[in-house]
Amino acid sequence: MPDLILALDVLSREEALSVAEAAAPHLDAIKIGYPLVLAAGLDIAAPLSEFGIPLIADFKVADIPNTNSLIAQQVFAAGFFAIICQGFCGSDSVAACVEAADDAGGECYVVAEMSHPGALEFLSGKNAELLAQMAVDAGAHGIIAPATRPERVQTLRAIIGDKKILSPGVGAQGGDPETIAPLIDGMIVGRSIYTAEDPAEAARTYARFRR
Ligand code: C5P
Repeated sequence: MPDLILALDVLSREEALSVAEAAAPHLDAIKIGYPLVLAAGLDIAAPLSEFGIPLIADFKVADIPNTNSLIAQQVFAAGFFAIICQGFCGSDSVAACVEAADDAGGECYVVAEMSHPGALEFLSGKNAELLAQMAVDAGAHGIIAPATRPERVQTLRAIIGDKKILSPGVGAQGGDPETIAPLIDGMIVGRSIYTAEDPAEAARTYARFRR
């Protein structure tokens, strides 16, 4: 059963710290992406680190290898434990993120398939399976795969073996935690926790599906 990862897509430092503090006892990691970093700066990682929970940088990095390296180095220097990159730029671009993660003693995850309806246009099916295989070959620590499509998670699991699957899409996007939990290593939950009237209670509810 999976770790619980909070997708902290709030738009101010104050709200980020308040939600993180409330939910922290029930979390295994906090995922931060462009919404919070653009609103509050990359150095939001410093106060969030004080909760003692690993931070995942969801920048879906998608550039040439040199630029990916520079981005990943900034991420790890800021105190993040893991980075998420896209795979569609190719194996050399992914390898650059994996190398930066390895140098920092951290982890790198590759988006194999996304959770929203539009993902079916490009980032799904055979393409997702090729991306998952490439993530394994590049030495990534795991992939991102959609909680909204458990059957796809099973297909991707057959490709990646015991590499980790972190899975967004539970709650607000319609994914069912009970169905997806046995198939994945990390359950990513955003709005269903941070917009809840009581984020601590919401986090506790999802934490029931943890290992
Ligand atoms: O609010 P919600 O629980 O839908 O948040 C899901 C989080 O996971 C968001 O931060 C979103 O950007 C991210 N994500 C996703 N689907 C992917 C990869 C990341 O929903 N395939």
